[in-house]
Amino acid sequence: KVVILDYGSQYTQLIARRVREAGVYSEIHPCTIPAAELKALKPAALILSGGPASVLAPESPGLDASILDWGLPVLGICYGMQLLAHYLGGKVHAAKDREYGRADLEVVSPCSLFEGLSGTAGKHKVWMSHGDHVDTPPQGFEILARTGSLKVAAMADASRRLYAIQFHPEVAHTDDGDLVLRNFLFKIAGLKPGWSMASFVESTIKDLRDTLGDDHVVCGLSGGIDSTVVAVLLHKAIGKRLHCIFVDNGLLRINEREEVIDFLTESFDLNLKYVEAQELFLSPLEGVTDPERKRKIIGHNFIEVFDAEAHKLQGVKWLAQGTLYPDVIESISFKGPSAVIKSHHNVGGLPEKMNLKLVEPLRELFKDEVRKVAYELGLPDNIIWRHPFPGPGLAIRVIGEITRERLEILRQADKIVQHELQASGWYRKVWQGFAVLLPLKTVGVMGDERSYESVIALRIVDSLDAMTADWTRVPSEILARMSNRIINEVKGVNRVVLDISSKPPSTIEWE
Ligand code: XMP
Repeated sequence: KVVILDYGSQYTQLIARRVREAGVYSEIHPCTIPAAELKALKPAALILSGGPASVLAPESPGLDASILDWGLPVLGICYGMQLLAHYLGGKVHAAKDREYGRADLEVVSPCSLFEGLSGTAGKHKVWMSHGDHVDTPPQGFEILARTGSLKVAAMADASRRLYAIQFHPEVAHTDDGDLVLRNFLFKIAGLKPGWSMASFVESTIKDLRDTLGDDHVVCGLSGGIDSTVVAVLLHKAIGKRLHCIFVDNGLLRINEREEVIDFLTESFDLNLKYVEAQELFLSPLEGVTDPERKRKIIGHNFIEVFDAEAHKLQGVKWLAQGTLYPDVIESISFKGPSAVIKSHHNVGGLPEKMNLKLVEPLRELFKDEVRKVAYELGLPDNIIWRHPFPGPGLAIRVIGEITRERLEILRQADKIVQHELQASGWYRKVWQGFAVLLPLKTVGVMGDERSYESVIALRIVDSLDAMTADWTRVPSEILARMSNRIINEVKGVNRVVLDISSKPPSTIEWE
């Protein structure tokens, strides 16, 4: 595998994806990982990512230079290049301004990293985003390429297989960026492509078997694709030693249980405990309107219920979670805790309380990759393409106070939104589409009567990973049908509005 050390670049994830797309498995680890732990990962090659810091600044994230003596092929990108220069005795120039955007790369010394690059008159379009730059390469390094403004845009010590580039090969704006990465992987590191989702499934199941041995594992099933895929992978690895718990907290979408849970138990003969806990969740939520309070109450309750159920099982040593890569980076940052925008309760909390070891087989994947895993596992379309659903469920879509009546209004309205998205073929095209119940009544006229009822907002967004999102331009006929049906069919609603905000500055959910 290739290990990518993350120095905080917004493109680190993209590097990981590109490497996997080239058919080589890659994992991202924080740049603070101790050398011994890194060694234990047995990387076949190392990529140092870009990052916002300056290697010349006193507190900037560093590099344990002993790693470079292991004989591993290394590719430093942007900040990663400056690190190599800095730690190996080259000179890095502190810049006042950032260079941002397109540059023309001119290869000055033929090398395997740039083999096969096409470009007019030897110029290759690349994409830059940096402040500092390397002035003088370290001893043993050769300058490979320059640009109009950079004397050293790429450098290498080919004998030690240490390569560094100032531009970003992982972004789409760099022509042939994929080729540069593939050259590094195949020509320099000597790796062979062969990794695919099918092999991921196979090796994950094997790894799970090896790691878990005869141990028992408990797993919370939420009805979403992540926990479903985790459960199926574990079931394939350890069969009945996996114990799943599904908590009905009264905050689920319509048919959540029927569509997912019944399918799983019927198809896979899972060990599944269904816990009815509606009252337990809903009563402490009475009168609560603050979103973070809602999350805390639900998170806390979930841990209590889950812990109690897990304790009834004998000899459980592990807790399985459907953590994905974006959850990991949203909750951990090497720069220290980043501002809590929303506390996503499905990460953290449980394992500490339960004193169980964590098993997170999807930790390195993105949502679209999880969907591919689900496909490899033979899961049906309605599970593979199910929209993400937040842990706190409908509680954060009933804005303001949560009551059973308001939950039911939202559930009915949401059912129509789901149905119309499905029927028009838009369900699969969007990242998430759902209804939100607002804490607001407005005047309407129904028949000849004045009405004074609730408002439903439609939230339908495109996204790749939920980090950024834009509202989807769903054709107006479909929106019209949703609105019409909601107002006619859902008692208590007399107005429907469309949310046309992007993330950032808004978020996908309203709370
Ligand atoms: P936001 O609203 O932060 O949502 O733009 C990003 C993605 O995360 C989901 N979400 C949550 N998931 N617990 C979760 O497990 C939460 O508290 C939570 N809040 C938001 C949201 O549905 C979207 O996919």
